[in-house]
Amino acid sequence: MIDIDLLSPASFAHGQPHDQFAWLRANDPVHWHPEPGGDGFWAVTRLDDVRAVERDPVTFSSTPTIMIADEASGFNLDDHQMMIMSDPPRHTALRKIVASEFIPKAAKAMRPRIEELATRIIDGVVDVGACDLVTDIAGLMPSYVIADMFGIPHQDGVALYALTEAIHAAPESQAAGAGLAAILKMFNYANGVWEARRSQPADDLATLIAQASVDGNQLDVIDFNVFFMLLIDAGGDTTRNLVAGGLDALFAHPAQFAWLMEDLDSRLAPAVEELLRWVSPVIYMRRTAQCDTELDGVHITAGQKVVMYFGSANRDSEAFGPTAGQLDLFRRPNNHIAFGGGGPHFCLGAHIARVEIHALLRELLTRLVDLRPTGPTEWLPSNFISGPKHLPITFRAAAAAS
Ligand code: HEM
Repeated sequence: MIDIDLLSPASFAHGQPHDQFAWLRANDPVHWHPEPGGDGFWAVTRLDDVRAVERDPVTFSSTPTIMIADEASGFNLDDHQMMIMSDPPRHTALRKIVASEFIPKAAKAMRPRIEELATRIIDGVVDVGACDLVTDIAGLMPSYVIADMFGIPHQDGVALYALTEAIHAAPESQAAGAGLAAILKMFNYANGVWEARRSQPADDLATLIAQASVDGNQLDVIDFNVFFMLLIDAGGDTTRNLVAGGLDALFAHPAQFAWLMEDLDSRLAPAVEELLRWVSPVIYMRRTAQCDTELDGVHITAGQKVVMYFGSANRDSEAFGPTAGQLDLFRRPNNHIAFGGGGPHFCLGAHIARVEIHALLRELLTRLVDLRPTGPTEWLPSNFISGPKHLPITFRAAAAAS
């Protein structure tokens, strides 16, 4: 038996606690985990079990929240439930409002613009020779893209995204009330966007949501605010963490890094899938049992919390074979569940995220050479979202092609 603590930020201080996950998968895959100040929860660590929970929203509800703590936000939004914290049929109706902007065809149409943004981001650092990979490169892309989609200035996208970090940080890692203050600032900004689009509609995501109805009822300003926060939040630190966590993994596996660089064009696509599996930027999602049920032979009582650990499921040797614990940039097939296990909440932004990650990694790895970390990677103090908070690097500009 080893010590299991999936709540303490200390367990996530150097990335995800894969030693704990390995022990749980082998010995207690549906594990009862105590929760100071709460009721406790079932920690689900095997891939098949995570998929089973994801795909049964009737038994395993996303209400009242997908966070382990019951009142994460500290205030009551009544029936203005965020899409990610709602169940079908309301979830289906909310998702339909924006789905057309996230389908593969829409993501493909965004590619030229996203590539242009990648060029601009690398232009900003290429001659400096050193920077923080997280704040100066990886974090900018998702902020710019979601800002474009909402029709707001890029610098506002960057400022809003900084708020998401305070929203996700463990309460003990920051000043009291910092998380709540960040949510209020986000809502305040969203209010302004709502008013602007209601009086002057535009061709953007904000207008689509501001004009939408569910069951014949027009969405109100609070519905708009929570939708806005979800979209800023969900796409921001996840994509950033994949790019920065991915580079961290490449630095730690120099032979794999060299193999990738020998033929970046053909090897980048499978490499990105493996980095998604390896980094798994979303640590967990919670569900709540709606009735007594059984999972992998374990009895679960109605009302109990069931928490799915994606990073653990993505290292499950029953799903990925004996090399599950090794980085293999050419892994095929690679049925990872970094974007979710295939239920109704499967990541809405998966197609756009892949375009962002490809464009940024290609630009970065082509134009910056002799890439090296110059200090230890500092990880986010969060048990919900995993990735580097800071990763200092040095590099040289690649010689211009003649
Ligand atoms: C590497 C990048 C990303 C990762 C790893 C990731 C991962 C995830 C995961 C694990 C979920 C929950 C899935 C489930 O419960 O089945 C999710 C949901 C979601 N993601 Fe992503 N995501 C990424 C990027 C994005 C981007 C770029 C956007 C938007 C621009 C986005 C928007 C969303 C939304 C809106 C949901 C909630 C969907 C729903 O409730 O129906 N994500 N994501």
